[in-house]
Amino acid sequence: MAPIDPHSFTDSTQPSTSHISLSLYFDFSSSTIHASALISLTNPHSGPFFLDTRSLSIDSVIDPQSKTPIPFSLSENDTIKGSQLSVSLSNHSSFIVTYTTSPSSTALQWLNPLQTFNKAYPFVYTQCQAIHARAVFPCQDTPAMRIRYSARLNIPDQLSAVMAARHVERRRPANNEAEELACGNSSWSAPGRMVEEFVMEQPVPPYLFAFAVGELGNREVGPRTRVFAEAAPELLDAAAREFAGTEDMIKQGEKLFGEYEWERFDLLVLPPSFPYGGMENPRMVFLTPTVIKGDASGAQVVAHELAHSWTGNLITNKTNEHFWLNEGFTMYAERRIVEVVQGEKRAALSIGIGWRGLNDAVERFKDNMEFTKLINNQEGIDPDDVYSQVPYEKGFQFLLRIERQVGRPTFDEFLKKYIATFKFKSIDTETFIDFLKANIPGIETQIDLKLWTEGTGIPPDAHEPDSSVYKMIVTLGNEFKNGRILREDEVADWQGQEWELYLKNLPKSIEASQLVGLDSRYRLSESKDYEVKVAFLQRAIAIGCRDYYNEVEKTLKEIGRMRYLRPLYTALVQGNGKEEDKVFAKRIFSEAREFYHPIAQGVVESILAKHL
Ligand code: BES
Ligand code: ZN
Repeated sequence: MAPIDPHSFTDSTQPSTSHISLSLYFDFSSSTIHASALISLTNPHSGPFFLDTRSLSIDSVIDPQSKTPIPFSLSENDTIKGSQLSVSLSNHSSFIVTYTTSPSSTALQWLNPLQTFNKAYPFVYTQCQAIHARAVFPCQDTPAMRIRYSARLNIPDQLSAVMAARHVERRRPANNEAEELACGNSSWSAPGRMVEEFVMEQPVPPYLFAFAVGELGNREVGPRTRVFAEAAPELLDAAAREFAGTEDMIKQGEKLFGEYEWERFDLLVLPPSFPYGGMENPRMVFLTPTVIKGDASGAQVVAHELAHSWTGNLITNKTNEHFWLNEGFTMYAERRIVEVVQGEKRAALSIGIGWRGLNDAVERFKDNMEFTKLINNQEGIDPDDVYSQVPYEKGFQFLLRIERQVGRPTFDEFLKKYIATFKFKSIDTETFIDFLKANIPGIETQIDLKLWTEGTGIPPDAHEPDSSVYKMIVTLGNEFKNGRILREDEVADWQGQEWELYLKNLPKSIEASQLVGLDSRYRLSESKDYEVKVAFLQRAIAIGCRDYYNEVEKTLKEIGRMRYLRPLYTALVQGNGKEEDKVFAKRIFSEAREFYHPIAQGVVESILAKHL
């Protein structure tokens, strides 16, 4: 056995997957997919061949030529990695696996009609990062691998499908299609079904596999961008307004980082239970509806996912132990785009909020400093459990440190060359560092590269933001302790980010009455901007101010974005939390659980388990 990734059964002595052809029959009544996967290898192989799976029930493995069965076995379930599918090949260069997904697949959220905006049709979507692609199809589920794929999705004809891939056609199923696909499913060609076909010609790591099926509509917002959402005119119109500036951002990205390689940059707005702010699925970014709020920060999430088109999707971290290569670079790239299209002040606010986030994350891991390192050991660790701002903001700080050392023009040139050199490859930190040293001779004598990549905490030469807007708001926050209330004229032009930075920099020791005073003046607890609202509610819980618990409950039941669930549940159950808060948290979770995505369910469960 020669594993290459602590999160995968993939074995380096075995061939790689070159292509997967998927046929997916969506059964909404049982929340399952009946599927077949034709897996092609880079070269013929004899002996065991390992694939990752999680909660897939494997029906058969078949030789595509002779249609005869190939022996296989499935290991016991590992709580992090899932089950290893071992197929006994005899000089095969391809084989077919037929299988069924589980209704509790960690990659899929099945919504019944009442959980959707229009309340008329069901909806299902994927979230495969970090290690959930294996819960949709058997694969070598490591970002070290890059595969091409094609997919036919067989769905009810009232629905439509989108994928992070090129759409080929929508058509009726052919009569003999089921047999040809060896999935032997007689419902494939039943009346009332449609097939949507897609191809992904560029090789992508498995975590970038994505689809959504529902009653979808779309609006055009630019020459290579449409926004998709549930087919509700008010939702589509609001989304189209929010994302009108997308093409400008793509052009700016191209100027900074080189050609946009993915042809289309479409956006999909998901239902409120989507567990992330955004997910950089290639050609079609997935977004939480909470980004639609009519100010600059919604577009910043789009800038972030767009930036991944270069950093993450073109150059990919080899394993999750090098996740900062994806997210740190993307924060840097996002802020460079934001600086141009929204101005320096917006970028400075984002950097200021990020700095606060980094300090809070380092505090969170004070008993487990391993996860304050850029490169960290994830043997036996579920990446969803240690997700934090560290790879994002410490990674950003590291790149900023280099930029400040060498100057922007040199760093810009370096970045372009880095992307051109490693595009469509998966790399680790060492590869990046070697490339840095080779292209910026002497850098290792100016910056302690080892301390930055392997050390814990925040290095002493990190750059605390010094922009005037940051300093002003942090000062105002500190003054709050002495009873200094913000004047209307001071906040007249504040958007969500100013409030967010302010709230996150209030001293720990404020009184409940002060917080209530602030809220009665500025109505932060009812803000439509969840960043502001959650920052406020988090403070309210932390100081035991129960006036806002109705709002906390409402928020936890209407939004499934983990960025909001984590801090609110954590504040309720943490160490000195009162017993009644813990009971409250448990009750809300038991009532909201079904609404959350399986990944979010798992994350909240582990927060509760840690403190109860
Ligand atoms: N790739 C991430 C989301 C992700 C990370 C999913 C790890 C699963 C595992 C995405 O690009 C991201 O970082 N989203 C952020 C938004 C952003 C503006 C920082 C989020 O969801 O909050
Ligand atoms: Zn990201």
